[in-house]
Amino acid sequence: MKNYTELSDIQDLQGLVTEALELKKATSALEIGKGKTLGMLFFNPSLRTRLSTEKAGKLLGMDVMVMNAGSDSWKLEFEDGAVMDTDKAEHIKEAAAVLSQYCDIIAVRAFPDLKDREKDEAEVVLNSFKKYASVPVVNLESATGHPLQALADAITISELNKKDKPKIVLSWAPHPKALPQSVPNSFAEVAQKLDAEFVITNPEGYDLNPAITKNVPVIHNQDEALKDADFVYVKNWSSYDNYGEKLNEDRNWTFSAEKLKLTNDARVMHCLPVRRNMVIADEVLDSENSVVIQQAGNRTFAAQAVLKRILEEKV
Ligand code: CP
Repeated sequence: MKNYTELSDIQDLQGLVTEALELKKATSALEIGKGKTLGMLFFNPSLRTRLSTEKAGKLLGMDVMVMNAGSDSWKLEFEDGAVMDTDKAEHIKEAAAVLSQYCDIIAVRAFPDLKDREKDEAEVVLNSFKKYASVPVVNLESATGHPLQALADAITISELNKKDKPKIVLSWAPHPKALPQSVPNSFAEVAQKLDAEFVITNPEGYDLNPAITKNVPVIHNQDEALKDADFVYVKNWSSYDNYGEKLNEDRNWTFSAEKLKLTNDARVMHCLPVRRNMVIADEVLDSENSVVIQQAGNRTFAAQAVLKRILEEKV
């Protein structure tokens, strides 16, 4: 693996899931990363991604440096040929080249603006790092995807699944803010690679990018979609068609104990952070059906498996 910026960078998903589960059993740190440095740049806040990826690097023996880009560092210009007379003091060309001398792997988090679909889909920040860095680049959640989260989700389903072909439902839920489609996009991609019956349920107007969901059934009646579900992945996202807009805040879609009863005693997943009683009700999050903590725990082993593959490729 040269970079991990999208799910398609994984050649063998099942092999990587198995490797992550082996790493989870390890009782001591590895040495493959000894003398290597992971540099992480965050253009947006994070709890899980930041700390689990730092921990993953350290469990591989790496040194880890973290910087809040823009606030701790100079504001970056990404436009080629720009006359730099604004508040952006450093161009990505120099920044990525300099970081490549300090780091063996660069990891970047950069959310979308949700204003201009074409611009967000161009993944300017992530792709500029790929273009101008001379070391591998890892996506810590970008404008359109969160592939480290998706790998942790696949690991969690693999650990918990008891059936040959489980039913997995990705369900939209209300939220007070307009959120990116990155997490549901990557989950939809990974779920299509699993041996499962996978359906998506969301209100009219919230269908995800059809280039990502492909032939996955999209059901606009949540109760119907939840029937017999073994796993329910609850998540809010903003509209793709009316790009970046919050069309409604329909609390009938909040994942409640009543909704859980429609399922096959489903395991309930969410990437976190989750707005309690808005996205998922207390009674569900506090029940044994919720696997969100285990899911967040697996972020470490997903990141460790990915960083290890990249280090092995570099050797
Ligand atoms: N799930 C996730 O990416 O969490 P953070 O935003 O806290 O990193």
